[in-house]
Amino acid sequence: MKDRIIKVGVIGAGFMGAMHARVYQQLYGVEVIGIADPDVARCEALKQWIPAVQCFSDYQEMLALPDLDMVSICTKDDFHLAPALAAAKAGKHIFLEKPIAATLEDGQAIVDAARDAGVRLGIGFLLRFDPRYSRAREIIASGEAGEISHIAARRNSPAIEGPARYGGSLPLPLHVTVHDVDMVLWLLKHTRPVTVYAQTTNKRLGHLGTEDAVFAIIRFADGAVVNLESSWALPAGSRTLLDAKMSILTIGGLFEVECGESGLYYASEEMNRYIDTQHWPLSQGEIKGDLREELMAFISDLRSGGTSVATGEEAGEALRITLAIMDSARSGEIVHV
Ligand SMILES: NC(=O)c1ccc[n+]([C@@H]2O[C@H](COP(=O)([O-])OP(=O)(O)OC[C@H]3O[C@@H](n4cnc5c(N)ncnc54)[C@H](O)[C@@H]3O)[C@@H](O)[C@H]2O)c1
Repeated sequence: MKDRIIKVGVIGAGFMGAMHARVYQQLYGVEVIGIADPDVARCEALKQWIPAVQCFSDYQEMLALPDLDMVSICTKDDFHLAPALAAAKAGKHIFLEKPIAATLEDGQAIVDAARDAGVRLGIGFLLRFDPRYSRAREIIASGEAGEISHIAARRNSPAIEGPARYGGSLPLPLHVTVHDVDMVLWLLKHTRPVTVYAQTTNKRLGHLGTEDAVFAIIRFADGAVVNLESSWALPAGSRTLLDAKMSILTIGGLFEVECGESGLYYASEEMNRYIDTQHWPLSQGEIKGDLREELMAFISDLRSGGTSVATGEEAGEALRITLAIMDSARSGEIVHV
């Protein structure tokens, strides 16, 4: 695999799967040979960028392609287990979108299946590939800024985004907060979380079967405290589609990662908004940003044997803490983790 073309299949051609397919196709030494989605029209639509791709309504048929090296699994949060087990059984390497699964049992089964089959498993926590987060982590890891005292992070978006796609079917913490949970676990890797306390409110979006916001406090064994806020209840006219920020206070410094005001603002007669320059910006006809960096890193891991994307075990831990946030919000109690 070191020097040859890596052949990729994508399972689920919705919002993320379509971007994964296009990004892989942009990469030198990578070819997208199959896309599987019961809604085959979603695959057909991708032929404008990947003309020779084969479309499958059943991912099992795609997994039978002998040339296929790896799959990206981009099905909904609660439908990761079956395609991941099938890919492992077929001996294909797996890049799986976050969260690893919706339950701890599913997450563990995915980790076990990949290990037993001897295939690589990487999980899509793309913030790790935003140089602002990763650079802050490197400076902290060097010892220059001293240890972390506390972190405050928010990840808020308008109701036309998440709830429009997932409202009523996927909980906000599992879908959104898990990004910041993974990031703080990555930043505080030398210690471990000990307690979680959370509250939610659903005054605005309760009728859609979802929370407006979740607020969570995580305490770590070394005394660090983390405060997370996630919401998808901002009004449609919000000037950002994703208002995300993280402040990290260390003994010797302060880091502020500002993602809401993207550096590209656009106002017209119809809109008034910051345009994404972070995750998947379109530029010069290609999808760039941290998603592309992350998928490139997984390809590079396959070639080199390295581990630069989040592992299944790390994603299992992010899931465990996120489920504790949901438990605490339900019970109103502090949860010992
Ligand atoms: N990293 C990020 O920032 C980010 C952002 C959004 C979504 N995600 C993750 O990506 C994943 C997919 O989310 P999405 O927004 O693209 O969802 P989506 O609903 O847009 O797409 C899911 C696709 O899966 C397809 N599907 C359903 N059953 C299938 C089957 N049996 N075989 C193959 N395909 C099947 C659906 O037809 C649909 O096209 C989720 O895990 C989500 O959390 C990550």
